[in-house]
Amino acid sequence: ESGKLWGGRFVGAVDPIMEKFNSSITYDQHLWEVDVQGSKAYSRGLQKAGILTKTEMDQILQGLDKVAEEWAQGTFKLNPNDEDIHTANERRLKELIGETAGKLHTGRSRNDQVVTDLRLWMRQNCSTLSALLRELIRTMVDRAEAERDILFPGYTHLQRAQPIRWSHWILSHAVALTRDSERLLEVQKRINVLPLGSGAIAGNPLGVDRELLRAELNFGAITLNSMDATSERDFVAEFLFWASLCMTHLSRMAEDLILYGTKEFNLVQLSDAYSTGSSLMPQKKNPDSLELIRSKAGRVFGRCAGLLMTLKGLPSTYNKDLQEDKEAVFEVSNTMSAVIQVATGVISTLQIHRENMARALSPDMLATDLAYYLVRKGMPFRQAHEASGKAVFMAETKGVALNQLSLQELQTISPLFSGDVSHVWDYGHSVEQYAALGGTARSSVDWQIGQVRALLGAQ
Ligand code: ARG
Repeated sequence: ESGKLWGGRFVGAVDPIMEKFNSSITYDQHLWEVDVQGSKAYSRGLQKAGILTKTEMDQILQGLDKVAEEWAQGTFKLNPNDEDIHTANERRLKELIGETAGKLHTGRSRNDQVVTDLRLWMRQNCSTLSALLRELIRTMVDRAEAERDILFPGYTHLQRAQPIRWSHWILSHAVALTRDSERLLEVQKRINVLPLGSGAIAGNPLGVDRELLRAELNFGAITLNSMDATSERDFVAEFLFWASLCMTHLSRMAEDLILYGTKEFNLVQLSDAYSTGSSLMPQKKNPDSLELIRSKAGRVFGRCAGLLMTLKGLPSTYNKDLQEDKEAVFEVSNTMSAVIQVATGVISTLQIHRENMARALSPDMLATDLAYYLVRKGMPFRQAHEASGKAVFMAETKGVALNQLSLQELQTISPLFSGDVSHVWDYGHSVEQYAALGGTARSSVDWQIGQVRALLGAQ
């Protein structure tokens, strides 16, 4: 006996290099627990269908529990013929309970088995990632709430644009991550569909009750078509895309913080816990945590693109190409877990330099408000924009700050300027104007905090 699940029709030995090439046990052993779970449910299905007696089912269930126990305790011994986790568990089951083990796979294929295992594993893992992501968002929102009276420069094109609340910046990233959190729940719904009972391609000929399997494994639904069920990996692609988009958001936030943490900006300082030093330059404190968050995005995108390329043009149903899905899922899951936890740590320990934030604001950032001042006096916005632009030019030409122009000087630009223009030069007054929902006024920032909290609560 070859020790292989498929040895019957073979006489020649497999080349050792091919053996290694074909094997997935080094990574798919992560599936040991869900593989046992799936097999236990399937043996119940077989008993109900009359393929197993109650005694045989009990023998199998106990044997599978023993297999799981060995994995859990780290005593499970792999042998060189264990091609994948399914082979390994069945081989061990047979050693433990004898020939009855050979009935477990009746009507089942590794094609429906592996995709069931993967869905079970991802379902669990996505719940963990979802909790971690919500924790990160909560940390950001708490911070936004505590620091909502701190103002700093908002940038477009990395040029000083308008004064904003620091919290408004935090929330801009928290809101994006909240969409990711919602999106993950959507992906989870489509992961939570049971393929077991599809066999290799044609379905199950032995009357296995798939509704029973679904209930046993607590899936939300069963797959509709056995050919599709064994070969579609949409749920993997969706998960990898979810991760890619989430990494896009996290890498953008990381980039902002890297920039704000430079001595040139000096608005924030990363805690020592999330920084590292230089082996050569003693003064250095590098934002490695943020740089790694930024870089991991590349790895995750690569996995997403790689899987789509693997799937593209595959002929119908199962092909061994699909074995490649698991490393992508495991690597991306581990990466996301680490990245989200590090981001939470970075945000919760970040120091902000309030005085520098205040000092970084400059009167030119109020030029838009100067135009709105004229708008409120009745001037059409296009003319007001032009007038404010002239004031900026005049200040630049005279080498003074925009708010240093005298009323008389401003009045040479427009007679609508009067003494109350002095209010324009107050940054606190500036941000409070932006009170329409979604803006940077305190009332709107509070509203955003409430909205994000409500969305998290509803998830
Ligand atoms: N190790 C395989 C995988 O990960 C299991 C399914 C193999 N099925 C087959 N007929 N070769 O996809």
